[in-house]
Amino acid sequence: MAFDIEMIKAVYGNYPTRIAAARKAVGRPLTLTEKILYAHLTQGAATEAYQRGGSYVDFNPDRVAMQDATAQMALLQFMQAGRDKVAVPSTVHCDHLIQAEIGADADLQKAKDKNREVYDFLASVSNKYGIGFWKPGAGIIHQVVLENYAFPGGMMIGTDSHTPNAGGLGMIAIGVGGADACDVMAGLPWELKFPKLIGVRLTGRLSGWTSAKDVILKVAGILTVKGGTGAVVEYFGEGARSLSATGKGTICNMGAEIGATTSIFGYDEKSEAYLRGTDRAEIAEMANSIKEHLTGDAEVYANPEKYFDQVIDINLSELEPHINGPFTPDLAWPLSKFAQAVKENGWPAKLEVGLIGSCTNSSYEDISRAASLAQQAVDKKLIAKSEYTITPGSEQVRFTVERDGFLGVFEKMGGVVLANACGPCIGQWARHGAEKQEKNSIITSFNRNFAKRADGNPNTHAFVASPEIVTAMAISGDLTFNPVTDTLINEEGKAVKLDEPKGLELPTKGFAVEDAGYQAPASDGSKVQVIVDPKSDRLQLLAPFPAWEGTDLKGLKLLIKAKGKCTTDHISMAGPWLRFRGHLDNISNNMLIGAVNAYNGETNKVKNQLGGGYGEVPAVQRQYKAHGIGSIVVGDENYGEGSSREHAAMEPRFLGVRAILVKSFARIHETNLKKQGMLALTFANPADYDLIQEDDSIDILGLTDFAPGKPLTVVLHHADGSKNEIKVNHTYNEGQIGWFRAGSALNLIKASI
Ligand code: F3S
Repeated sequence: MAFDIEMIKAVYGNYPTRIAAARKAVGRPLTLTEKILYAHLTQGAATEAYQRGGSYVDFNPDRVAMQDATAQMALLQFMQAGRDKVAVPSTVHCDHLIQAEIGADADLQKAKDKNREVYDFLASVSNKYGIGFWKPGAGIIHQVVLENYAFPGGMMIGTDSHTPNAGGLGMIAIGVGGADACDVMAGLPWELKFPKLIGVRLTGRLSGWTSAKDVILKVAGILTVKGGTGAVVEYFGEGARSLSATGKGTICNMGAEIGATTSIFGYDEKSEAYLRGTDRAEIAEMANSIKEHLTGDAEVYANPEKYFDQVIDINLSELEPHINGPFTPDLAWPLSKFAQAVKENGWPAKLEVGLIGSCTNSSYEDISRAASLAQQAVDKKLIAKSEYTITPGSEQVRFTVERDGFLGVFEKMGGVVLANACGPCIGQWARHGAEKQEKNSIITSFNRNFAKRADGNPNTHAFVASPEIVTAMAISGDLTFNPVTDTLINEEGKAVKLDEPKGLELPTKGFAVEDAGYQAPASDGSKVQVIVDPKSDRLQLLAPFPAWEGTDLKGLKLLIKAKGKCTTDHISMAGPWLRFRGHLDNISNNMLIGAVNAYNGETNKVKNQLGGGYGEVPAVQRQYKAHGIGSIVVGDENYGEGSSREHAAMEPRFLGVRAILVKSFARIHETNLKKQGMLALTFANPADYDLIQEDDSIDILGLTDFAPGKPLTVVLHHADGSKNEIKVNHTYNEGQIGWFRAGSALNLIKASI
């Protein structure tokens, strides 16, 4: 699958000198996270120490991975950059658009028919620009990346929040928005706030019913959904070295649930075995030759309190299996306490469905351990009481576990094998009866369990556990069952007990696959045509945003003064709008429809200054656009928090909003606005937010002298003829002012070729 050996050689070649420079600059031993970050500085060898949680630093990631929902806008933007080829190895993975309903083959075929134009588009863009393309059915992005591309000491970005899965193989892997992916593919540096460091020391060894998943379920309980924000979680200790590479991947994957920037394990014998087992002995040899750089310094792990911002201790020998939920992944219950919690909270004890697999938990080890329980159900004449589904993470895993008889065992237990895709994990689940919104329980080996995520039913109580626990629960059909202590009554009326699960980290006969589903790009893509039907409602080629007209902006209409929380979901909703992620005009019909209008407390109802009356935000803005009138959006604190979705910045830009003026920004959204050529401004005096009136016409002055650190002036012309003049701040540097002048960062990149 063409992992790029030359690229890895170059990265490893830099390691000795760059680590030495970093150690000198920092003046102390280094964690693994610091080693990888300092080895990937855009400037080359470090000359200064960065402040954790403070400094903004430019990095050169080694790879980019994109899933099909987010790749559409990332690639539409990349097409605007004027490059012939991507600057770093990149891949696209078709996994999010396949809906689970009947079973793997039928569901895959249906998805191919339904999403044909999106798949054809992604395949042709990939072919043209040198991007590896993983077809629908090939597998889930993070499993495919772990099997093929992740490498110890590497750094990658991916347009999906569970990109950190690759940390299981010692890579700094971070989830980003499409605009960031576009920049890195175009050869630009990628900026990150230097993270804080959380160390997790693992001692002891897993045994019995406990698995790697329980480590992160426990950590989520300790740190909660926000506890990892702005930090990299680094695992170390003899317990860490005892975990399989895929088990480590599970832990890193679900680090997204505690808000961590990413999570990581050092290179060890298990990593080496996995690299060799997945046909990458060459990388294992290279990693061995610099292995002292692919783990944190010994002194750091001996005295972690001195080097990490926070240290957590977990003894694997004492760790119990956990079940987390419902509705949030940080509500952690040790198995021995779970039955009581179910009863006390009145959660439905009857288990409707158990779902295993997903990007989080579909390794050979996971499947083989779950299958050992399914086999026991068959042998001990137990009929599974719940529905049961299996989502393999990749065709390579699926093919191998079928060859080794595990899928057959699941089917004997009544399990349904779904396509190698996200399916129920992202709500792509045509679950029959979900529309009735009945209160019910499901348990999955996935990572997220927010309300409605799996089946759209807000009353589905979703719990998260290891594949082993999910399987045992599905056999019993009862959430109050504890497989460690309880018995079940079989078909013959006898009480039987499930033995501890058993499995193999790697297949003894090696992995096998007939068609992994990979399509290599053309070596010369210059003749490849990218076809987008102009009548399509799902895809639309982008046109460059116009350059700044060179004057101050006058007579802007106030579109909306948003009150309170205004996240990227309020600005560009998800759900049914996912369908239009590749069509800027159509998706712009969701612009700000979730924002609360400060004047009437309502959503999607703003004054139309052209005709009086009130209208929907996108419709009113389209009228302003039709009349060639710019507008301005005013917001409260932390405007644009949430995801890094670039649509939240592109939509207002596309519809003719010229500036966003707020009390404060969420930083990623602020950068996204700048990239799209928008003015992102903050009140110098936050109380001036109250001066803005509903029918204001607004001027922004000082743009001809736009300079870093120099405030701009905003004049508010009120309907009664009075006016206010206020100062507004910005954080544009010289380069970013260039983006504004050119109309967008992409316009500038293109102009520089
Ligand atoms: Fe897909 Fe769920 Fe993973 S949506 S990428 S399987 S978190």
